Amino acid sequence: MIFKHDVLIVGAGLAGLRAATEVAGKADVALLSKVYPTRSHSGAAQGGIAAALENEEPDSWEWHMYDTVKGADYLSDQDAAEILAKDAIRAVYELEHMGVPFNRTPEGKIAQRFFGGHTRNFGEAAVKRICYAADRSGRVIMDTLYFDAVKKGIKIYPEFHVVDLVYRDGQVAGVVAYELATGEVHFFHSRVVLLATGGYGKVYKVTSNAFASTGDGAALVYRLGLPLQDMEFVQFHPTGIWGLGVLITEAARGEGGVLRNGQGERFMERYAPTIKDLAPRDMVSRAIYTEMAQGRGINGRDYVHLDLTHLGEKKLAERLSDISSFVKIYLGLDPAKDLIPVHPTCHYMMGGIPVNIDGAVTDEKDRAVPGLYAAGECSCISLHGANRLGCNSLLDLVVFGRRAGMHILENLDKTPWIDPPEPPEREAAGRIKGLLENRNGEKPVFIRRELQQTMMDGCSVFRDEAGLRKVVETLAELEKRACDMSIENCGKRFNTDLIDGLELRNLLSLARAIAVSALNRTESRGAHSREDYPARDDEHWLKHTLVRQTDQGVAIGERPVRITRFQPKARTY
Ligand code: FUM
Repeated sequence: MIFKHDVLIVGAGLAGLRAATEVAGKADVALLSKVYPTRSHSGAAQGGIAAALENEEPDSWEWHMYDTVKGADYLSDQDAAEILAKDAIRAVYELEHMGVPFNRTPEGKIAQRFFGGHTRNFGEAAVKRICYAADRSGRVIMDTLYFDAVKKGIKIYPEFHVVDLVYRDGQVAGVVAYELATGEVHFFHSRVVLLATGGYGKVYKVTSNAFASTGDGAALVYRLGLPLQDMEFVQFHPTGIWGLGVLITEAARGEGGVLRNGQGERFMERYAPTIKDLAPRDMVSRAIYTEMAQGRGINGRDYVHLDLTHLGEKKLAERLSDISSFVKIYLGLDPAKDLIPVHPTCHYMMGGIPVNIDGAVTDEKDRAVPGLYAAGECSCISLHGANRLGCNSLLDLVVFGRRAGMHILENLDKTPWIDPPEPPEREAAGRIKGLLENRNGEKPVFIRRELQQTMMDGCSVFRDEAGLRKVVETLAELEKRACDMSIENCGKRFNTDLIDGLELRNLLSLARAIAVSALNRTESRGAHSREDYPARDDEHWLKHTLVRQTDQGVAIGERPVRITRFQPKARTY
């Protein structure tokens, strides 16, 4: 079938929802989502949303901007960081007025808590900047925005997996999507496509990401030959449940929890003497790996302890109830009495589809691609630079999702309908048929497991040249094997086997972009830590990486960092 909408938003997490609710009522907008919208991964965000409201203590947007830039190890584009920090205050009150049930102070204001890397007076001490709803902040914001979308009558296509971006003469004409319920392939004709498809933590074995986080939007852009930016910067959150990767929110440390090594020592005092356990995630994850490598994991093993036992049952119930139940369900432990085994888990991609501050996708010459937008984790503004601060992600989604919606509306009259090449869904339908008919190949699950282990071994918290070269070689082999994969289930209805196969292709492309970019950057900055190049090197590397697929292989380019207020300095906490 052919569906037609002025504006098509792919992905119904917070960035997609916020953009859609901005456009609704003023233009014909539809949302298309691989999962049922309220199951989007934004709903898994726990800790909160950052904004210098000053409800609990003095704060300012300048301090928030400074922390964002310093946390990013100075790779943040500072015009974007300034917009984020300034607009945060309006954005949080907007959410409050829409009905988000934030926790409250005794006087009834939105309550605020501490979080990693958020400080007062340019790094002096931790500041209470994070607005929260217990430890299910993403969940309640998602539900509120989803209700707003339903109220506004936005057309939603749930469980449609996008397989192609239709592009003609440098202009977007729509997308091709596979409908999970029927197995049909459809063309969605539109003047504007906004990709809000989220991250791709599933390239790693240990991750806090949902199964659906396979980077579909970023992979489509990459396959068209457009660049991706800063792919080497992959965030490992310090506290994933040991062996599972399930997130234990940083709010646990914001509320007073501490990390302890095998000797019971609060080791973050040595790595970040001023803010200790509230240092940014890249530093804490490195510290945990270092403790483990030096034999100070618990019983010499690959985890440390998160100690919440001193917080008391009341605080755990009021502010950390979800993670308390995760610990009980997954580990059979009681956080009020037991220490929690944790290790770093892949959590967030700082890199992605390059966009300007209005969400328009840009090519390697900084030109906006007509009709194509991206927002949220799949995009790279680049606001979070080399390392994102906690609670700046929910904020990014609502601030820059709205901005993209506004810019789309302002420019819609100038954006023509492009006639697609005829018929645009034929190629994807043929590809899927071929995949279903191939009976003798390898199953995607085996290739995916090798991919995830390979990335874990050679391209996670610490990297070096030899390890990265091995990753790149292995990925090339896996890509060859994936060309001949077989899908066991040949059915048409909810064929999740087939979706696994389609997603695997995306994961492999993105993993290669990450590894090649990591090999290229011969310095350590933020979440990219090269053991063979341990220092930050501003002289040569204060620049963004662009990576692009060409007929000759993967090409690397660069783009300058926009520095407005804060010159790079040594990063101590
Ligand atoms: O730890 C957390 O609650 C995660 C928050 C975030 O990634 O922003």
